Amino acid sequence: MLAPPHLSDAPAGEIEGDAVWQGLHLMAPKQSIGRDHRIVLDAKRAPSPAWDELRTRTALTMAQNHWSVLGITSPTPGCGRTTVALNLALGLSRQNNCRVVLLDFDLRKAGMAALLQVDRSLPFADFLSGATKVQQSFIRVSNSLAIGCNTRPESRASELLLDAGVQLALADVRRQLKPDIMILDLAAMIGSDGVLACLPLVDCMMLVAEAEKTSFGEIDVCERELSERSNLLGIVLNKCRHGPARYGF
Ligand SMILES: Nc1ncnc2c1ncn2[C@@H]1O[C@H](COP(=O)(O)OP(=O)(O)OP(=O)(O)O)[C@@H](O)[C@H]1O
Ligand SMILES: [Mg+2]
Repeated sequence: MLAPPHLSDAPAGEIEGDAVWQGLHLMAPKQSIGRDHRIVLDAKRAPSPAWDELRTRTALTMAQNHWSVLGITSPTPGCGRTTVALNLALGLSRQNNCRVVLLDFDLRKAGMAALLQVDRSLPFADFLSGATKVQQSFIRVSNSLAIGCNTRPESRASELLLDAGVQLALADVRRQLKPDIMILDLAAMIGSDGVLACLPLVDCMMLVAEAEKTSFGEIDVCERELSERSNLLGIVLNKCRHGPARYGF
């Protein structure tokens, strides 16, 4: 059985006044990111029912099970993990009194930072190894969404993720940012041991498959492994031609 979740003990309405959050570098994503990369930045002007439904199902399932840390993976690269992780984080953070921290654990790349066009050096490996602090390592895109991006591809990702220091780094995130939900954008599963190294860090996992590309065999092998070693929250069938995302929980 996995460890019980950490839930924020900050009273409702205190999000805006939190000194640590206010001290993080504020970087509002450019509107072009939304347009060019299917990121829902303004849910009022451009509502997206499919992403909203994925957000709501995820929030309900996590709350029902007292889970607070979600890992997102896919069988192979390019299925849309980072897109799903960011849209989910944005959607959850738009709920009242829900503080979300999104962490880029796909350390061999700088995918999240590239998507967000981060203009400063934020090597996430340095934070995970204890060399830098939360204030230097995270940006916030709003008062309720902070992101730990990675701007320097790290070749020794698996070794780093297995180090006990990673647990300490996440404990520091919990203590300082008091997130209600943490989302880890992980590597792809097949051909890499990075995801296995991260399973002890999460309460539940989401598997993103790519419509018309990911095979049933690939889904099956990943689903089995995640079900055996973690709590599989759901499988998202991304890039469906009928809409931005379809899913089965
Ligand atoms: N629902 C979608 N519909 C169409 N294109 C999408 C969708 N989701 C993601 N994409 C596109 O697919 C590409 C890969 O997406 P993304 O970077 O999110 O995947 P990833 O699994 O994180 O990839 P990587 O393995 O490189 O980290 C991007 O060009 C992205 O804009
Ligand atoms: Mg990615």
